[in-house]
Amino acid sequence: MPSLSDPIRIGAIEAKNRVFMAPLTRGRATRAHVPTPIMVEYYTQRASAGLIITEATGISQEGLGWPYAPGIWSDEQVAAWKPIVKAVHAAGGRIVCQLWHMGRIVHPDFLDGAKPVSASATTAPDAAHTYAGKKPYAEARALPIEEIPRLLADYDRAARNAIAAGFDGVQIHAANGYLIDQFLRDGSNFRDDRYGGSIENRIRLLTEVTRTVADAIGADRTGVRLSPNGAIQGVDDSDPDALFGAAAKALSEIGIAFLEMREPGPEGTFGTSNHAPVAPIVKAAFDGPLVLNSDYDGPKGQAVLDAGKADAIAYGRPFLANPDLPARIAEGAPLKKDEQKTWYSQGPEGYIDYPTRSGAKAA
Ligand SMILES: Cc1cc2nc3c(=O)[nH]c(=O)nc-3n(C[C@H](O)[C@H](O)[C@H](O)COP(=O)(O)O)c2cc1C
Repeated sequence: MPSLSDPIRIGAIEAKNRVFMAPLTRGRATRAHVPTPIMVEYYTQRASAGLIITEATGISQEGLGWPYAPGIWSDEQVAAWKPIVKAVHAAGGRIVCQLWHMGRIVHPDFLDGAKPVSASATTAPDAAHTYAGKKPYAEARALPIEEIPRLLADYDRAARNAIAAGFDGVQIHAANGYLIDQFLRDGSNFRDDRYGGSIENRIRLLTEVTRTVADAIGADRTGVRLSPNGAIQGVDDSDPDALFGAAAKALSEIGIAFLEMREPGPEGTFGTSNHAPVAPIVKAAFDGPLVLNSDYDGPKGQAVLDAGKADAIAYGRPFLANPDLPARIAEGAPLKKDEQKTWYSQGPEGYIDYPTRSGAKAA
């Protein structure tokens, strides 16, 4: 069985090891959602990852409602991503852009007061992060079927923009209770047209988005993230095994480069779930590389590879505080703990000031 330090080919991308960096929103772009120079240093410090999956990146104004998160719909954003990608490549890394539409999680403050879109007219629980602090979510409007071609065009533009910025590919964010997940799961999709009801209908938006992106940039540069297990942001499903087994099969038929799953267990610290892991069902249904995430350290990740349950592991919080994570895992060195207070804070603290194990700055 492979070691976490062994290389792996994912579609068109050669990853030098199987310690991937999970997507991590950090809120260091501008208010106009343009990447900033500090992000060059942050990502370059982490270029020893087999693959960096960027923080979630808005495909459109309509899809982005997170303060200071980056987008990839405008020429200005593409130009600002270029030095980041170039520096990661120069440091020997590989990097894909996570494409994000937040659906009903976008607060109207980000939409000049308009309603966000979702599968159905529903309201997310809890409160949105806005520039004016936390505010209750607003009711979404159900995305009319006539607007789906426009949504697919937004994904098409974002994927092409990612390639224009130099990215090795993209990951479609279909997890964590955002737009595509709102369509997938029956706790938030109450439609009675061909995008709702049966499993076949609920996976339709996911497969149409994936086909659109694959047609634009190649299936071998297209990845997908799913989170089958446990409620998140009010999104849950009554039969995740059947739903995500079918989704994995459909994605396998498109021939995507990799599938990543965030799947917390009962002891998860970033979400919990008591449902048995869906990963074995997905692994059986999906032909390409499967990447697993949530609550892994080096030994736990290696055990999953040894058991043949996954082909690579995506690490989130461990990469925040350990820019040289692959080397630390290879050496069995202790991992530094991240600090939640700097997850989304602006500026360099808790962002580019974590040292490597030798005490030096990474990269
Ligand atoms: C600060 C922070 C930001 C995150 N941002 C994203 C994101 O942009 N996209 C995404 O799919 N998941 C995001 N996640 C979830 C992580 O990718 C990952 O699934 C989670 O941290 C569990 O993995 P870990 O135990 O290795 O940290 C975020 C998590 C944290 C802690």
